[in-house]
Amino acid sequence: MEIQSNFSLKKHNTFGIEAKAKQFVAVHSVNELKTILEEYKSEKKFILGGGSNMLLTKDIEALVIHIDLKGKKIIKEDDDFVWVESQAGETWHEFVLWTIDNNFGGLENMSLIPGNVGTTPVQNIGAYGTEIKDTFVSCEAMNIETQKIKTFINAECNFGYRESIFKNEAKDQYIITSVVYKLTKRNHKINISYGDISAELAKNNITNPTLKDVSNAVISIRQSKLPDPKELGNSGSFFKNPILLKSNFEKIHQKFPEMKYYEVSETEVKVPAGWLIEQAGFKGKRFGDAGVHKNQALVLVNYGNATGQEILAVSREVQKTVFEKFGIHIEAEVNVI
Ligand code: EPU
Repeated sequence: MEIQSNFSLKKHNTFGIEAKAKQFVAVHSVNELKTILEEYKSEKKFILGGGSNMLLTKDIEALVIHIDLKGKKIIKEDDDFVWVESQAGETWHEFVLWTIDNNFGGLENMSLIPGNVGTTPVQNIGAYGTEIKDTFVSCEAMNIETQKIKTFINAECNFGYRESIFKNEAKDQYIITSVVYKLTKRNHKINISYGDISAELAKNNITNPTLKDVSNAVISIRQSKLPDPKELGNSGSFFKNPILLKSNFEKIHQKFPEMKYYEVSETEVKVPAGWLIEQAGFKGKRFGDAGVHKNQALVLVNYGNATGQEILAVSREVQKTVFEKFGIHIEAEVNVI
């Protein structure tokens, strides 16, 4: 394990922001991770996965531990289901494609989400009507203080919309090292309820879609709307879609009857932040090298040399204008460091 000093994190965050780590180490096994945590017990530490859900606004004055644990395997199966375990450092999309090649169902709607397997439970990633909590069985996580491994089962993770225990009570206490998903081997629950997917399949005259068809449809929708971080730095949706109490929403809706919304419970509705931001006039707007994406207003982008502070400033301007126009606060989804 090589510890590097003053290490550039530009290639380790999908926003492509230039920021330095005081020290950096990549760990390739659970044992290496344990050794580093023991040896650097009193040092400040920062855990880095795929770097796809963070905005670096300053250098990191800590030992950055990059979780690079690889490997995936079937740990159990019966006639209908398979339990697949993946190490935290596997690239999520490659893992999803591997499950589809094996005809294992459940992850296809989440094709092409950037990031690594280990971070999927942290924010309960989701897309096109599916969330990780629907297939997540458990994960193993190392306690940073004691180096003991703890298994968190689904019910212990307190999953919510882009939320989990790892963003709340257990924040900064654990490092997820592997995740187990339960996937279907037959009678796949194909979910094409999301309008964009059914439209994409209809366009290609597909009436009885396979897992691969659904994955391809998702890939094609994402590629048409969302920028590829390899070409244009970004972190996916920068904001969460706000959830409002119906009573509050109804007052706002009277003023803006064209506002889009989805019911999420008997008392709450979700409003697409992309719509609010577009209506506030920010879609496609550029401020120096920082900006709001032209096809999906929920995504902030780095055109090349934006600093994290510049992107943060754009996000604040967006929040302020949306609040002034609609009286709705939109909260960042990415972790601002
Ligand atoms: N919309 C606009 N203008 C925009 C963007 C969206 O009017 O610029 C409207 C759309 O017309 C649509 C509604 O907003 O009526 C929803 O848009 P979309 O289907 O693109 O989904 P989203 O709510 O903007 C969420 C997730 C995405 C996920 C998609 C598809 C969040 C914060 N984002 O976006 O997740 O891919 O649904 O399921 O929940 C991510 O988290 O990084 C991410 C990309």
